[in-house]
Amino acid sequence: MTHHPLWQQLVAAGQQHVLRFYEELAPDAREQLDRQLSGIDLQLLQQLTNNTLATPDWAAMARRATPPPAIRLDDRQAAFISAAAARRAGEEALRAGRAAAILVAGGQGTRLGFDHPKGMFPLGPVSGHALLQILIEKVVATARRYNASVPLYVMTSPATHTETVAYLTAHDRFGLPADDLRVFCQGTMPAVDAATGKLILAAKDSLALAPDGHGGMLEAMNRSGVLEHARERGIDLFCYGQVDNPLLQLCHPELIGYHALAESEMTTQVIRKATPLERVGNVVMVDGKMHIIEYSDLPEDVALQRNPDDTLYVWAGSIAVHVFDAAFLQRTSCRADVLPFHRAHKQVTYVDAQGVRHTPTAPNAFKFERFIFDLLPQAHNAIVVESETAEVFAPVKNADGAATDTPTTARNAMIRLHRRWLEAAGAQIADGTPVEISPLWALDAEQVAERLELPCTISQPTFLSP
Ligand code: UD1
Repeated sequence: MTHHPLWQQLVAAGQQHVLRFYEELAPDAREQLDRQLSGIDLQLLQQLTNNTLATPDWAAMARRATPPPAIRLDDRQAAFISAAAARRAGEEALRAGRAAAILVAGGQGTRLGFDHPKGMFPLGPVSGHALLQILIEKVVATARRYNASVPLYVMTSPATHTETVAYLTAHDRFGLPADDLRVFCQGTMPAVDAATGKLILAAKDSLALAPDGHGGMLEAMNRSGVLEHARERGIDLFCYGQVDNPLLQLCHPELIGYHALAESEMTTQVIRKATPLERVGNVVMVDGKMHIIEYSDLPEDVALQRNPDDTLYVWAGSIAVHVFDAAFLQRTSCRADVLPFHRAHKQVTYVDAQGVRHTPTAPNAFKFERFIFDLLPQAHNAIVVESETAEVFAPVKNADGAATDTPTTARNAMIRLHRRWLEAAGAQIADGTPVEISPLWALDAEQVAERLELPCTISQPTFLSP
């Protein structure tokens, strides 16, 4: 193997075992392994494995954290920007075609017992529409409403890319013009053996690689030409959200307006946490900078702290919705080290020195991921905007049967919200009757009121669509 072009480097890093089966591989299998190996930064991997790259001490940071400056729901009047001004500014940006949308959709539906990309999961309570359809139609409807184009950038992972592209093509991009949709794939990071730091062979001709986290978006946007595409289109802000939330208000004018008027480089939509240990990121200030501390990194005693009026001290739950200034993403995407890596202890299937495959029953490996929200401390004038949970957040994380965040809880949240909009507009809906509104029919309560023809009585499951 000593003639392999990477041999010296692999030996120096103590990783030459990855070529153990090289001699017996067919030419295309060798090519695959070579391609994987040439994409790896061995020095970075060594630093990550030895943990010599400083990882933040989240617990210590959480102990000195204070609540973020926020535009609160019950205090909109006192906010330095009025809701009406925000809405006007946001609508102006949308009308001028200055806003684009980003959806991160690198996850599989495995935890839902669904063997496809999560975005393809049929969620619509009456329509049965997939998460991707529901969310893409919000972008289409927003573009129509403001008579402008709103390009959408969908980030996939190697596991979801091909199927997502085929799905979107088969459905004519759910109405998005061809040049308004770009699907780009995030990168990967190799998993390493937790005990030895050695790269793991998932097969004789393949390393164990895992998606590099949604923070990989930054590099992938640059590499895939998405940033350039947006620049040519005159985009100066990106509205970001996750594919697992059917209530996501992608490109919401008010949020965009707060962002623009505050001259914020990164704006975060939050909800007031219902319980201290809720599984959401926590937006806080630490040493004058805004951070999101993941629920898994927040010490319980800090999470439980309360204000004198009994509200939670660490109250601002991130729903993973941001508005990014385009110049901010351009600037940070050029810096390889701008986002730290988070190390996770996971189970990874491997082949041993004899070429026998093993699927461990306990974590055996480290995976490395970057989180896009770690950009927050770099952003100037970062602000937080609080929204009502029932209007913006119903994540689908767990299979039915779990207590929270299941397809059923998300469907019920959609039904409740759409029922509320319809009843406010004067509809009579029989108890327990599911209703669902297509984004193409109405995006919010205001549009429902414009569209609904009265009298309106609904007594069986109804999907309102154009
Ligand atoms: C995430 C956030 C959490 C937030 C919550 C809201 C992280 C680390 N935490 O939690 O702060 O409160 O959502 O629902 O993100 N994804 C990719 N590529 C990747 C990894 C993830 O595209 O490499 C996408 C997934 O498709 C998914 C989203 O990012 O849509 C979130 O990932 P997930 O692992 O479900 O994060 P949570 O722990 O639920």
